[in-house]
Amino acid sequence: MLKARGSKKATQFTESVIREMTRLAQEFDAVNLSQGFPDFSTHQVLKDAACAAIQGDINQYPITWGAENLRQAISRDFSKRYGVAVDETQVTVCCGSTEAMLSTLLAVLDPGDEVVIFEPYYENYGPDSIISGAVPRFVRLREPDWTFDRADLEAAFNNNTRAIIINTPNNPTGKVFTTEELQFIARLCMKWDVLAITDEIYEHIIYDGHKHVPMASIDGMADRTITINGLSKTFSVTGWRVGWAIAPADLAGPIRKMHDFLTVGAPAPLQEAGVTALAMPESYYTEMAAGYARRRKMMCDILERHGFKFNPPQGAYYVMTDIAHFGFDSDIEFATYLVKEVGVAVVPGSSFFNDRKAGRTKVRFVYSKRDETMREADKRLAKLATLKRSLAR
Ligand SMILES: Cc1ncc(COP(=O)(O)O)c(C=O)c1O
Repeated sequence: MLKARGSKKATQFTESVIREMTRLAQEFDAVNLSQGFPDFSTHQVLKDAACAAIQGDINQYPITWGAENLRQAISRDFSKRYGVAVDETQVTVCCGSTEAMLSTLLAVLDPGDEVVIFEPYYENYGPDSIISGAVPRFVRLREPDWTFDRADLEAAFNNNTRAIIINTPNNPTGKVFTTEELQFIARLCMKWDVLAITDEIYEHIIYDGHKHVPMASIDGMADRTITINGLSKTFSVTGWRVGWAIAPADLAGPIRKMHDFLTVGAPAPLQEAGVTALAMPESYYTEMAAGYARRRKMMCDILERHGFKFNPPQGAYYVMTDIAHFGFDSDIEFATYLVKEVGVAVVPGSSFFNDRKAGRTKVRFVYSKRDETMREADKRLAKLATLKRSLAR
């Protein structure tokens, strides 16, 4: 009888902890502050555009690398916003930025190539590197401002390094990379002939006057940067699964090939609605960012009230908090207690680190949530006070 077994690759990483926390939240009827999706509606104009596209019979396979009008809208927006000249031939529309990242890594990495990843990192990057046969090299971002040590980063580059993954604004830390930091990374990329793959999905969610600087806009980097982005976060449509990669002309072909054989194409009517999304006036972005600034304050106030320690995020919509003083053995224990006993789901910090120990005293909260969701979490977290009192006894 055939003995069923998974591939060696499949044994090298676990199920997504973030998505598992969402399942636990449902099981224990907990307030879900784990997975990064909004629990509020997207804009009515976008819902109407998606419905109109379906009614208008845009329901068959799209052009594999993306509907032409969407690719034009993406390249126009990027060029106009950041002054980097790109055209639609450089764009591949994928099933979310998740697939754009994987198609890109598969397109540019060979087995044994090394890819530098900052940690803590968005958890997909580890498995993505393994799937593409590459060897991840992790460089630590350090608190309070989650910057990297320049010597650590220099030491991570060598003749086998093929790419570095940067995520700014960053999940889970909320860090926004500065121009100086990006210039330093750029110098290393040029010295070692390395590609920069930048996940900029939170580009418009940014606070306190911090500015999003795309790696492709740094001198000398346009020809060696692949910019990953998507509709999910900016337009509150994480279920639509529309994302993209903007690549130098020579690399767009290999990315398109990988994308074609992975998924054929992203949902056709939702690509059409994406054209409407990218035509929203600037006031849309300003109001969206202001909404998140308000939610950030609300979440930070709640966390402070319940004794969490953290540095407020500069961008994106997560707070990485320290939990050492709550007296649990690990982040997993604390997160399990929180979801089962308190009724609030968060993500254990260790899932963002290759060196799991480094995240043992951390959990991540998300605040892309309605006020009433956060108020309910606030109420439930009051239970932590009894825990602290019993710890003190
Ligand atoms: C940094 C980062 N990149 C990518 C994604 C996934 O984006 P998409 O919905 O476009 O696949 C997320 C989702 O949380 C994220 O935080």
